[in-house]
Amino acid sequence: MSDSVKLSYNDQTFDFPLVEGTENEKGIDIKTLRAATGLITYDPGFKNTGSCKSGVTFLDGEEGVLRYRGYSIEDLCEKSSFIDVAFLLIFGELPTKEEQELFNKEIKNDSLVDEDLKMILKSFPKSAHPMGVLSSLTSALIAFNPSSVDVDSEADMREAIIMLMAKFPILASWTHRKIKGLPLNYANLSLSYVENIAHMMFKRPNEDYTPSPVVVNAINKLLILHADHEQNCSTSTVRVVGSSHAGLFASVSAGISALWGPLHGGANQAVIEMLEAIQKDGGDTKKYMAKAKDKNDPFRLMGFGHRVYKNFDPRARIIKKAADEVLSEMGINDPILDIAKGLEQEALSDPYFIDRKLYPNVDFYSGIIYRALGIPTEMFTVMFALGRLPGWIAQWLEMRKNNEPIGRPRQIYTGHTRRSL
Ligand code: SDX
Repeated sequence: MSDSVKLSYNDQTFDFPLVEGTENEKGIDIKTLRAATGLITYDPGFKNTGSCKSGVTFLDGEEGVLRYRGYSIEDLCEKSSFIDVAFLLIFGELPTKEEQELFNKEIKNDSLVDEDLKMILKSFPKSAHPMGVLSSLTSALIAFNPSSVDVDSEADMREAIIMLMAKFPILASWTHRKIKGLPLNYANLSLSYVENIAHMMFKRPNEDYTPSPVVVNAINKLLILHADHEQNCSTSTVRVVGSSHAGLFASVSAGISALWGPLHGGANQAVIEMLEAIQKDGGDTKKYMAKAKDKNDPFRLMGFGHRVYKNFDPRARIIKKAADEVLSEMGINDPILDIAKGLEQEALSDPYFIDRKLYPNVDFYSGIIYRALGIPTEMFTVMFALGRLPGWIAQWLEMRKNNEPIGRPRQIYTGHTRRSL
């Protein structure tokens, strides 16, 4: 098997070495391409371009495999907790009992937010989309924690990571409370990380609240499944922003904005809005399938297709099963779920979807569970961000520890040539 590739150009032949990963993935190392040949590559959307070497997450799009630091998501969903998976992604190993206790203690010690941040929240209209509010509040955290800006030492990085893991769920829950016009909650230190997400989102001021195991287990599983996904759009954003040595909070704030887009994390909200539109339209799934296949119609079947998975998204399999379980445990019969299953069946036997290898992705069923848990549709992508936070942190940390160069792609210029005024 050769360990390099040859490129012939202008009667010259150039050799470029191959880089190989631990799962036998191979890439052409083109770091010297422009110097040697004067050429650059052209790859809109980076569909064929590797931006980095990473040991955080491995996924195989053909086989439908997803592993965090070598552990399968199936095992982690069954046997671990979101906060332990967060530790695994960020620090590379599942925590020992002592590490777990220290991590949880440090997070609880940091789970307050400067009261003045509430003034910023108050300035937003109730109609503001929570992802825009969350991105702004995350960025505002910098002003209240200046030490988190220029984190070079291991100790500074750990402090910034703990701070973000502690304060992010508070800010996320506050975006929900703002929409509902409810007073802002803080964590209850006797509860776990995921129990507190439910507590801060749902506890009403005039009654006691104990998060039900069904709600906590469902959120725990969903957050684990969303925790990381190698170099997706928002994670690449976090890496590129961080590569300029912008701080962790600023990098994550940019990642939140990238995740918001309906082609990325915003798809879970768009899926429910699509299913509700189909329901309103009499459940005519065939009409929407036709729209999705019509090149003159911008409509896409939201929750279907994936840049990497050309087989079933393994997360969608787990979430679909969990949706059935949660709805039956809660005694909910949601016709939206039936419409989703009908669409899935039709798409899986339709040549347009089969030829393009378009399968349900992580966003297709997740909104159905969030809906059953009483989470409003506009909060679905905030739930995605809550899950993705440790992945963004892990990838940002890896990028900084590897001292990656500033991200600055080239272009092919197609504008005017030189002209005079
Ligand atoms: C996430 O990257 C990640 O890892 C993301 C994510 C993560 O965990 O971080 O997994 C989370 O973002 C999941 C994806 C959520 N987005 C959606 O569900 C939105 C609907 N899906 C599409 O917009 C699309 O499938 C993308 C954006 C997900 C992927 O787009 P690609 O890889 O750029 O593929 P493409 O747009 O070039 O599509 C290839 C073909 C095209 O048809 P042709 O031009 O070849 O005829 O497939 C068609 C597309 O028109 N197509 C669809 C479709 N998705 C692709 N047609 C109808 N409905 C769709 N959903």
